[in-house]
Amino acid sequence: MGVVKEHPPAATVVAILLHLSLLVTPSVSAVEFALNSFAGVSNLTLIKDARVDVSVIRMTNDSNQYSYGRAFYPVKIPMKNSSNSSRISSFSTSFVFSILPQIATSPGFGLAFVLCNTTAPPGALASQYFGLFTNATSPSVFPLIAVEFDTGQNPEFNDIDDNHIGIDLNNIESADSTPAGYYNASGAFVPLRMRTGQNIRAWIEFDGEDLRFNVTVAPVGVPRPSRPTLSYRDAAIANYVSSDMYVGFSASKTNWIEAQRVLAWSFSDSGAARELNTTNLPVFEAESSSSSLSNGAIAGIVIGCWTFVVIIVSVLYLWWRKKRGREEEDEEMEDWELEYWPHRYSYEELSSATGEFGREKLLGSGGFGRVYRGILSNKTEVAVKCVNHDSKQGLREFMAEISSMGRLQHKNLVQMRGWCRKGNELMLVYDFMPNGSLNKWVFDRPENLLGWEKRHRILVDVAEGLNYLHHGWDQVVIHRDVKSSNILLDSDMRGKLGDFGLAKLYAHGEVPNTTRVVGTLGYLAPELATVASPTSASDVYSFGVVLLEVACGRRPIETSVAEEEVVLIDWVRELYAKGCAREAADARIRGEYDEGDMEMVLKLGLACCHPDPQRRPTMKEVVALLLGEDPPEAPRKVLSDLVRGGGDEAPPLQPSPPV
Ligand SMILES: *[C@@H]1O[C@H](CO)[C@@H](O)[C@H](O)[C@H]1NC(C)=O
Ligand SMILES: *[C@@H]1O[C@H](CO)[C@@H](O)[C@H](O)[C@H]1NC(C)=O
Ligand SMILES: *[C@@H]1O[C@H](CO)[C@@H](O)[C@H](O)[C@H]1NC(C)=O
Ligand SMILES: *[C@@H]1O[C@H](CO)[C@@H](O)[C@H](O)[C@H]1NC(C)=O
Ligand SMILES: *[C@@H]1O[C@H](CO)[C@@H](O)[C@H](O)[C@H]1NC(C)=O
Ligand SMILES: *[C@@H]1O[C@H](CO)[C@@H](O)[C@H](O)[C@H]1NC(C)=O
Ligand SMILES: *[C@@H]1O[C@H](CO)[C@@H](O)[C@H](O)[C@H]1NC(C)=O
Ligand SMILES: *[C@@H]1O[C@H](CO)[C@@H](O)[C@H](O)[C@H]1NC(C)=O
Ligand SMILES: *[C@@H]1O[C@H](CO)[C@@H](O)[C@H](O)[C@H]1NC(C)=O
Repeated sequence: MGVVKEHPPAATVVAILLHLSLLVTPSVSAVEFALNSFAGVSNLTLIKDARVDVSVIRMTNDSNQYSYGRAFYPVKIPMKNSSNSSRISSFSTSFVFSILPQIATSPGFGLAFVLCNTTAPPGALASQYFGLFTNATSPSVFPLIAVEFDTGQNPEFNDIDDNHIGIDLNNIESADSTPAGYYNASGAFVPLRMRTGQNIRAWIEFDGEDLRFNVTVAPVGVPRPSRPTLSYRDAAIANYVSSDMYVGFSASKTNWIEAQRVLAWSFSDSGAARELNTTNLPVFEAESSSSSLSNGAIAGIVIGCWTFVVIIVSVLYLWWRKKRGREEEDEEMEDWELEYWPHRYSYEELSSATGEFGREKLLGSGGFGRVYRGILSNKTEVAVKCVNHDSKQGLREFMAEISSMGRLQHKNLVQMRGWCRKGNELMLVYDFMPNGSLNKWVFDRPENLLGWEKRHRILVDVAEGLNYLHHGWDQVVIHRDVKSSNILLDSDMRGKLGDFGLAKLYAHGEVPNTTRVVGTLGYLAPELATVASPTSASDVYSFGVVLLEVACGRRPIETSVAEEEVVLIDWVRELYAKGCAREAADARIRGEYDEGDMEMVLKLGLACCHPDPQRRPTMKEVVALLLGEDPPEAPRKVLSDLVRGGGDEAPPLQPSPPV
């Protein structure tokens, strides 16, 4: 200031300006921002499917199967003054995210906060790799650090659970991880489910001197916890830092829709990130409100709103129908549709059969869509499955599949009668199975518990149906989703396998060898967790799980039991190793079964679930063993023990290798 007063000569002013600009340069390269909304923010670097959706960043595109997206701040953050400098800058960031699955029980993916020297890390894969990491078993050192908010458990990456926070140093296998939650004011750990759609606030502090990451999470509305959820210090972090890096987010998915959103974000590399104002953030919640409503008042409000919406929608619908007239009902048929064999029903026929797809006719809904009960004009009872699909291309390929599937006929397969398409909705018409699915009779409905004799007969039925798919047809048909809820019971309580081929509709992806997640958690063979495509051996694995659940009267994954019993296969395998496999049998039907029979089914279940697909029996062998016959081919080592009924030798089955 004194200098200015003295009216210095021009040269001095220039010198001062130069000096100032030199001083100013580092502070210009300092990065500091706080975005309480992304509305109007047009300078983010959005990669692949990431986009700004009104005021939030949406990371993936629901209609692309192997979708991934990354969103970066447009400029790199200086991390070191020179590439050989050992001094690393610190930074502080805070953001609000929401992870909302379409189906709560589907496999989860999550979201990662990323630091990387490029916006396109080499070899990045979608699905469980966050659209960020490669599948290389030991990735080489590359400037890529992520803090993952992982909502799925991938045992092959040693994930601790399906809801954890981890530090990833250019490796999908976390250097450190901990269950998601926070320490409240009294120091107690409060778990936090990240996959509910609720808005979650995260704070990440990186100390460049100490090489430490502190990660803290809490639901929006809860004050910032003073103790971080995860504090990780590691000198190796320095190897993964380059002189400047992009900061941002990355997420990916497969078949299952999981909406990963970032709602607000602040960052500073020169002090604490500014506080975000979370008061007016949008809230994303599951459409179906059935999950955890214990509160009657909330339920009442929800039902009230629902009724209101239904009335409005019905009024609008009636108005629309009147306006558009009936000609719209006869949607034009694409010529390729004529090529397909099974009977094509008209939409009106199915609509009137199912009471206009009324709620009271709804039999169930699941990953593939809704199923309605209907009565055709000729009085036959049918089940109509409505499958939504966005791409006509996929639909067409699928129809080719269905039309060949429609020719498959076997007493133990649920017969498809025909189909109908309306827009992007495909309706498949099946024989109606009055007794519902097997799971209801084994564990969902204890009052109608199924006896052993019937259970055994159903297992034989299903094994025969699957054997037909694998061996009874000129091409091997892989079911891909064998599970007790896909086993339906006819009026005589005979078992029939349903839904075959349907999984294929969801398997037309750009990365064919990552179709692994098609299927149902708990029934998936371990080799599908890596990148193999489904085979008849993986069907055998799923059938093995069915054998065990029927024999033990338990779901494949039961969370309400002691930890060592959670995973059915592991539990039975352990009992088997101790020589007391019979203890796993369903205690509620004790005395009904021949001990030898039961033991055989349990061991057969384990053999089918052998970690090595090569060593699993074929369905042919399974059928023979269940019927008490000698297997058609020379029994292999695993089977010989079963056939002889022994059990006193060393267990032929190794526990799953630690993947
Ligand atoms: C990007 O846009 C945001 C808000 O529009 C602004 O605060 C920020 O400074 C911009 N950053 C760059 C590097 O242009
Ligand atoms: C998602 O992807 C599809 C096709 O790949 C595209 O047509 C659609 O516009 C995308 N949706 C959004 C919201 O970007
Ligand atoms: C970095 O390396 C260059 C040449 O390799 C050297 O000239 C420079 O002094 C080094 N800088 C530091 C800070 O070590
Ligand atoms: C980089 O250099 C500037 C000025 O030259 C200094 O203020 C800053 O602390 C240095 N940063 C690191 C990480 O060494
Ligand atoms: C990122 O780092 C890697 C390894 O150090 C280097 O090969 C690559 O050129 C860097 N990329 C960019 C864009 O700086
Ligand atoms: C990694 O993925 C690529 C492409 O999906 C595939 O070709 C390769 O076999 C996979 N490698 C491993 C080790 O799984
Ligand atoms: C912290 O959590 C524990 C256990 O949930 C609870 O008992 C305690 O009251 C909580 N403390 C505060 C200050 O909320
Ligand atoms: C990280 O957390 C530890 C343990 O609570 C604390 O001692 C340290 O000061 C924190 N560091 C930063 C940069 O917040
Ligand atoms: C947060 O934003 C709301 C309006 O969006 C405003 O009323 C409120 O004062 C803000 N709170 C703070 C702490 O800035």
